[in-house]
Amino acid sequence: MRPFIHVNCAMSADGKIAGTDRRQVSISSDEDKTRVKTLRKKYDSILVGVGTVIADDPHLTVKGLSYDENPIRIVLDPNGRTPDNALVVNSSAPTVIVTNKDCTRTWNDVNIIRSGKNIDLSDVLDRLAAQGIESILVEGGGETIASFFREGFVDRYTVFVGSLIIGGRSAPTPVDGKGWVDTGGMRLSLKDVTMLGDGVLLTYVPTGPVQ
Ligand SMILES: NC(=O)c1ccc[n+]([C@@H]2O[C@H](COP(=O)([O-])OP(=O)(O)OC[C@H]3O[C@@H](n4cnc5c(N)ncnc54)[C@H](OP(=O)(O)O)[C@@H]3O)[C@@H](O)[C@H]2O)c1
Repeated sequence: MRPFIHVNCAMSADGKIAGTDRRQVSISSDEDKTRVKTLRKKYDSILVGVGTVIADDPHLTVKGLSYDENPIRIVLDPNGRTPDNALVVNSSAPTVIVTNKDCTRTWNDVNIIRSGKNIDLSDVLDRLAAQGIESILVEGGGETIASFFREGFVDRYTVFVGSLIIGGRSAPTPVDGKGWVDTGGMRLSLKDVTMLGDGVLLTYVPTGPVQ
């Protein structure tokens, strides 16, 4: 069975997930950071795109957990752009890097999945399931989240709305990519609204195409 997919991110009150320079901006309240730590512990794996690895150099681990206790880190990186010294390939947790089928790049102690001309997401999810991964927390960025929504693979979407304005028409948003509202988009059902410090957590379940 395909893994359960939960997309989680934080955006500003004007709908941006980072600045126009794509550098990380502190959006989450302390309460939201605590929630994300608890959330990560519940998932078999945490997934991001290579754009986030290059922009933010995230650990994608839970502080205090050992190599075996941490969720598996997964990076969608069709062309093998993840730097050798990126924190996501350090020895704190197991890592899977997904490349396209023609990429020959390797990394030390990293499990590599090569799939499709430019990553076949359906095939990747099936192969991750075959490795025992039953749930994936997708944390960004906008291009990666868009690809999961576009394929209809998202089971739950949570977004923390922080009390700040970032601005800038080219600043990334939770769902970027080319857009597909003319051929469907995605309608959501709002399941919960919770105040977390001076921000709000929205919880949605996708229900199907807009049109
Ligand atoms: N506020 C938050 O919660 C949050 C969380 C995470 C990230 N961010 C921000 O988001 C920004 C990065 O977002 P981003 O959209 O530029 O990058 P991204 O989504 O992290 O990575 C995009 C890249 O990953 C690869 N990729 C992703 N999905 C793919 C798919 N289905 N098939 C094939 N390749 C796929 C492609 O690599 P190639 O380009 O090599 O083809 C694509 O260009 C940064 O500014 C970061 O700070 C914010």
